[in-house]
Amino acid sequence: MSYDHILVETRDRVGLITLNRPKALNALNQALLREVEQALSGFDTDEGIGCVVITGSEKAFAAGADIVEMADKTYPAIYTEDLFAVGDRIARHRLPVIAAVSGFALGGGCELAMMCDIILAADTAKFGQPEIKLGVLPGIGGTQRLARAIGKAKAMELCLTGRMMGAEEAERAGLVARIVPAADLLDDALKTAATIASMSRPVAMLTKEAIDRADETSLAEGVRFERRVFHAVFATEDQKEGMKAFVEKRPASFRNA
Ligand code: CAA
Repeated sequence: MSYDHILVETRDRVGLITLNRPKALNALNQALLREVEQALSGFDTDEGIGCVVITGSEKAFAAGADIVEMADKTYPAIYTEDLFAVGDRIARHRLPVIAAVSGFALGGGCELAMMCDIILAADTAKFGQPEIKLGVLPGIGGTQRLARAIGKAKAMELCLTGRMMGAEEAERAGLVARIVPAADLLDDALKTAATIASMSRPVAMLTKEAIDRADETSLAEGVRFERRVFHAVFATEDQKEGMKAFVEKRPASFRNA
């Protein structure tokens, strides 16, 4: 598969997607988003891959959806083509995905990071939903995912003023899992991804699915779902191996079965 706007590699059991439109600060045009979707689909169906990292450049993870591409579109046109429905498909992938964010993650860039399961931020990262300054609002899930990640008051403030939030504020607010020195970001993200990829692949996917339920359902339903999944993993060889290895005081060797 060849791509025009992203670079796609594998490092052992980790898939790496690098957004690669440097002249436009990785602005997310439709072609780029479709490529990300295709690359994620490829990794999802590749049993040799246990985790994916999405990253950008040092200056920008992504400075938003491509404003130039959108500027002249009409309502009937974007409604008919269902502009940004590709975001729903990106978010539906089942493997754990880490966003390694350096520099700007604005608008669609912040939204893409929030579609991932873990955000690791360089100390240079800047997050924001500045769409209001363009006379629009976030359109790839930003109002929903930001409010869930950092709460209503802060999401309102960011989306209504368009101001950017630095890495430390984003970590304090709960958007970011960890801050890493910019020079170490990719190594750290790949190491974290390798750790996840060393676990049982199906159990990691089930864990992601269960945590995602927290955003979609009541506590009682979510806990019921978790319990069913917890019981179900006792049907896997990996559960037997994981617990046996603990008892035998040796590292577990999962077979993804
Ligand atoms: N779309 C298209 N092109 C973009 C872009 C975007 N979102 N962001 C930056 N670029 C382009 C610039 O036009 C510029 O191109 P030229 O060299 O051809 O002029 C190039 O990238 C470099 O950008 P700047 O010269 O502006 O770089 P800077 O360092 O001075 O500023 C910035 C950086 C503050 C991020 C600034 O580029 C900026 O404000 N970008 C737009 C941010 C934004 O509004 N994002 C939201 C987009 S809308 C959206 O995402 C909707 C949605 O939710 C679906």
